[in-house]
Amino acid sequence: MTTFANLDVPALLAELTLEEKASLCSGADFWNTKAVERAGVPAVMVTDGPHGLRKQAAVADHVGLDDSVPATCFPPAVALGSSFDADLVERVGQALGAETRAESVAVLLGPGINIKRSPLCGRNFEYLSEDPLVSGVLGAALVRGIQTAGVGACVKHFAVNNQETDRARVSAEVDERTLREIYLAGFERVVTEAKPWMVMCSYNKVNGTYASQHPWLLTDVLRTEWGFDGVVVSDWGAVNDRVAALRAGLDLQMPATGGHVTDAEIVAAVRAGELDEAVLDRAAERILTLLARSLSAPREREGFNVAGHHTLARDAAADCAVLLKNEPALLPLDSAGTETIAVIGEFARTPRYQGAGSSQVNPTRLERAWNAIRETVGDRAVFAAGFGIEDSADDETLRAEAVEAARGADVAVLFLGLPASYESEGFDREHILLPASQTALLAAVAEVNSNVVVVLSNGATVQVSDWSHHAAAILEGWLLGQAGGDAIADLLFGRANPSGRLAETIPLRLSDNPSYLNFPGELGVVRYGEGVFVGYRGYDAREQEVSYPFGHGLSYTSFEYSDLEVTVDSEQGVSVAATVTNTGSRAGKEVVQLYVSPPASAAARPVRELKAFAKVALEPGESRRVQLALTRRDLSYFHPGKGRWVFEGGEYGIAVGASSRDLRLSATVTVASSEPVEPLAEDASLQEWLAHPVGSRLLQERLAAAGPSLLTDPHMHAVVGNFPLARLATFPGMPLTPAEVEDLRKAAR
Ligand code: BGC
Repeated sequence: MTTFANLDVPALLAELTLEEKASLCSGADFWNTKAVERAGVPAVMVTDGPHGLRKQAAVADHVGLDDSVPATCFPPAVALGSSFDADLVERVGQALGAETRAESVAVLLGPGINIKRSPLCGRNFEYLSEDPLVSGVLGAALVRGIQTAGVGACVKHFAVNNQETDRARVSAEVDERTLREIYLAGFERVVTEAKPWMVMCSYNKVNGTYASQHPWLLTDVLRTEWGFDGVVVSDWGAVNDRVAALRAGLDLQMPATGGHVTDAEIVAAVRAGELDEAVLDRAAERILTLLARSLSAPREREGFNVAGHHTLARDAAADCAVLLKNEPALLPLDSAGTETIAVIGEFARTPRYQGAGSSQVNPTRLERAWNAIRETVGDRAVFAAGFGIEDSADDETLRAEAVEAARGADVAVLFLGLPASYESEGFDREHILLPASQTALLAAVAEVNSNVVVVLSNGATVQVSDWSHHAAAILEGWLLGQAGGDAIADLLFGRANPSGRLAETIPLRLSDNPSYLNFPGELGVVRYGEGVFVGYRGYDAREQEVSYPFGHGLSYTSFEYSDLEVTVDSEQGVSVAATVTNTGSRAGKEVVQLYVSPPASAAARPVRELKAFAKVALEPGESRRVQLALTRRDLSYFHPGKGRWVFEGGEYGIAVGASSRDLRLSATVTVASSEPVEPLAEDASLQEWLAHPVGSRLLQERLAAAGPSLLTDPHMHAVVGNFPLARLATFPGMPLTPAEVEDLRKAAR
């Protein structure tokens, strides 16, 4: 067989026939590419992803119905996003890569980094955040980690796949500024910083064109602007017109099509002169390069460290859970004390630890919180199911038993959450409420016991405003992977200190969400009407009260912020430093968040945006100076008319704190714009003339020479200032003519 380590890809390509090249461009089955045995080209396997390996038999389905090989089920993206910890996420990526390689798989189909536009998206558990910085930084960390093992990562779903409703056809209608600033920004960071081997296009259309055949997305932006040099693969079944897709930049169609008809379509198009063979060569060359990359790493089945990865999954899970509330400080519970604990809720015994669909992993082990609690405190804990996960006929009996257990205990720990049937790949949720049986149980328990802790298991935001007053403490556990049960016990008893932060806002109610009136769209179209005001950007702009803001999360210790220092550096970037001190009595981790507020701007910009963050571990009493750097691009907005990022001068607000609404230190800094002065347009308004450095001087001189007029009256500047000067000049009695305006305009260049 050809050795791929030092393969001369162009030479191999030149040896292949037209049919062989076309055959490389689609799968052999669900998970493998096609070999070209005559030329020594092997097949490779690609498979899901993202939070564990899901390797099925080649003929199996792709949505999780058939079992796959055992693999570590790490915390899914909804949890990893809340870690705000790029180092941790990279270590998880390394373990994912090692398992992928151990199973001789070439590419792991993840991470998914789509923005959580609405809490209703059925697949939010597979995505990291409502914020593109968090999605991009953590997505890049996953890709880096995975690829250190000599296997590829495949970042998905490119792009604007933010809902499951009609996902295979819907057209996401988004203006370019919003695309660039919100929906593409995470992909841009992952592609430019971590260089994934693969990008998966999404099923949906973007502004009317299928993502799978979108030349602007797949070629102009992804390759020309961002320098992507890997393979673009279709989402499974996303190709609509194979030849158009190839032309647009989609290299590999997955899975196989029956009878490989689309390979034949490519061949026919080349023969008919409708498709330049060079386009096919380009795709085939990229696929050969992927094989070369993958096969140059050793591929022997070497197994992986099952116990070590389980421990990593447990440590990671403990760093992902978010302590929303602890008032009065009921947590941590005392593992050596005498208090009795009623553990209530079926989820303590039957954990929900991952979401359903193509990402569903067959875990190597599964820990249950109830077992871990029992191991910690023995007979001091009793269990009552309280409810059936998928509503059961015995709910009233189960509730009565649970209330009795709570009545007799010092503390009641309730495990509440979303049944698996509430959220999955393939459909969106209709509401964000917990099942009524669970909230009724909580209310009944709270009547007999005032020391209530709620532990949540859910793949996406649930409303808490209707029941949070019943709980002294709330631990948002999201879906924590196979070791989540142990991690929850670690957190409840203080063996671990909560350090997760919300990567998505918890609104008071669903209808507060910025996308509410435009989700999931209608008649084949979903209009992204809220523009850049997604998630906290929208809640903040409308000054809405929320249950828990973006970035929020408590700890068993406390942190103080001091000594903010902001410096504008020579490249007009900004360096920010602040000191964080652990002022409590336990070791803990703080997520230092840096938010930037824009100057007075020509564009409608969010009140503040997260532009940098760092997670720091501190012993009691320890301080650390945290340095965060902002580039010019971090301060810019995307100007669709100019087709580029614009960096405006002015006063920027810089705030550092513990959440988007807990800003501890702030400063303003004046930064000069480096924008070239734009020439005045033919239809420049009077106000634009007066704001233009040269035009204003020339105009004022000309007007002064003509004596007082409507145009020299400041009041009139406000009233007619938004009229084009050239048009004002046509009015009777004006001190200058349209021709003179044009002369001045030329002189002002
Ligand atoms: C999903 C992808 C997944 C693929 C293969 C699709 O339905 O959208 O995320 O990688 O199937 O299972």
